[in-house]
Amino acid sequence: MVNLKALILSGGKGTRLRPLTFTTAKQLIPVANKPILGYVLDHISRAGITDTGIIIAPETGEYVKEYVKEGTAWGINVTYMPQEPLGLAHAVKTARDFLGEDSFVMCLGDNLLGEGINKLVDKFNREKLDALILLKEVENPTTFGVAVLDGKGNVVKLIEKPKEPPSNLALVGVYIFSPRIHEAIEKIKPSWRNELEITDAIQELINMGCRVRNEILNSWWLDTGKKDDILTANSIILDEYLKNEMYGSLDNKSKVTGRVKIDKGSVVTNSIIRGPVAIGRNVSIENSFIGPYTSIGDNTSIVDSSIEHCVILSNVSVNGIERLEDSLLGKDVNVSKNHTGRKALRLMIGDYSEIEA
Ligand code: G1P
Repeated sequence: MVNLKALILSGGKGTRLRPLTFTTAKQLIPVANKPILGYVLDHISRAGITDTGIIIAPETGEYVKEYVKEGTAWGINVTYMPQEPLGLAHAVKTARDFLGEDSFVMCLGDNLLGEGINKLVDKFNREKLDALILLKEVENPTTFGVAVLDGKGNVVKLIEKPKEPPSNLALVGVYIFSPRIHEAIEKIKPSWRNELEITDAIQELINMGCRVRNEILNSWWLDTGKKDDILTANSIILDEYLKNEMYGSLDNKSKVTGRVKIDKGSVVTNSIIRGPVAIGRNVSIENSFIGPYTSIGDNTSIVDSSIEHCVILSNVSVNGIERLEDSLLGKDVNVSKNHTGRKALRLMIGDYSEIEA
């Protein structure tokens, strides 16, 4: 059994998730009230890996550290390494000292998978590989790294974001490498987007005659880079993992149907909650309807409103809103009805916000 390390990439600027990423890392946006990175670390921990390096961005690294700390909650030991966003292979280069001569699993901290990585780790060890990549058929291969297979399970060619894709098999953000990847990375040059691409480094391994194989992912995979991806991830996670759990209180005028989790200190008054719905701690819900596929973060208050298919973070106030749907609300946000009788929107919103009124 090879002793594997893990390298989690939790850097990047998260520009497509602004304004939320002005005050947090994109990997920390919660789905079903738990940061995406938490699910990635669950997979690492369940594969029995302890030595974990986390690549962080200078801008958001402190938020990541604040959440993961030393990794004790997952039974892992974490080493943090700051990196400018110069590509996935550049991240491996940055982690060179941490990785030493060990094989390692590399995971993108904003990618959610419907299954763990134990099967991959077993295959990598059993077949004594230099790289094992995870692939999944996609409809839009031009936006990913794409692989060509030879029919015997070998990967023969890899191209990053091809204009004319030779297959529809995309590289999912999970890889396992032997230390030979470092030799390959030394040989590659930055791509057109000025990044050192891990896809090019794996191609280099193939050119070097190394053993590069693949596994096709059978479950779902979500790259959570945009608002709608977060809403989809939230729906899938609520569907698959949410259990009925009641730690808060409900008055006799309220009704809860379907799978609903209500955490400690939360109070529901004269409201209907139709699951799957996850409600965090110290949330107050009054005279409202909370519809399916909604997650509500800690210390939030929902009054006289109707909400469905939303991800709402902590310390939010929603008051008097007739229908709020398909929305992602960041921390400390205040949305309320104007009581002036005028049909005017009055906004005070941050840079890069999106409003559909
Ligand atoms: C990166 C990789 C790409 C892979 C994708 C998976 O792309 O370069 O090969 O398919 O992650 O999410 P990026 O997110 O940097 O565009």
